[in-house]
Amino acid sequence: MKERLIVALDVSSLKKATKLVDVLYPAVKIFKIGSQLFTKVGPDAVKMVHKKRARVFLDLKFHDIPNTVSLAIEQVCAMGVFMANVHASGGRVMMQRAAEAKKKPLVILAVTVLTSIDKEALSAIGINRTPLSQAERLAMLAKSSGLDGVVCSGNEIRAIRKACGAKFIIVTPGIRPPGSGTQDQKRIMAPKLAISCGADYIVVGRPIIQAKNPLYAAQKILRGIY
Ligand code: C5P
Repeated sequence: MKERLIVALDVSSLKKATKLVDVLYPAVKIFKIGSQLFTKVGPDAVKMVHKKRARVFLDLKFHDIPNTVSLAIEQVCAMGVFMANVHASGGRVMMQRAAEAKKKPLVILAVTVLTSIDKEALSAIGINRTPLSQAERLAMLAKSSGLDGVVCSGNEIRAIRKACGAKFIIVTPGIRPPGSGTQDQKRIMAPKLAISCGADYIVVGRPIIQAKNPLYAAQKILRGIY
């Protein structure tokens, strides 16, 4: 579990993010920087995590024309992060160009169906399939486009593992220890179950960063308590 937990630094300032990394590292070794923190402080957030010797998952979920995504991935490579992502729904050419733009070791994932989306929300955007079937379809498209793995909910891990093989990296957000609030997440799963279903990494935000004692909350997950 030690290398599998990614904590989302979903906070509004570099000071708050630094405090969380100070408290959680080295128990937690990978931190996710998403649009809130990156919009506020940019690459300084990445530098801060690297300075603490931890790794970065840069979660900017690129979704644009192939040329723009390819140029953005070049910039991500220059930052030396461990992992980054694009939206699989950007299509095959966009994902191929993202994979080709990789110049240094970088894991590029495709977001399948956001964990905040359920069947009704999918149908409202014109996709009349279950989240499971849509996620599986996008995972296969991501794999054949040359990407390293996907972001998907716990409910889709087994099917995607079966369809895409043992080496395909599966990262699962929407993780909720029993009894914690779901907030905006719809397709959730407990940490231990997500790992036993075959996730390589789990992403946890609010259940850790909003806990009274974030290190204690992380340690409970790391010890496989739930
Ligand atoms: O606070 P919580 O644990 O719900 O945070 C989950 C994190 O994972 C957020 O930073 C969110 O942006 C991210 N994420 C997600 N669903 C995806 C991809 C990323 O919740 N499909």
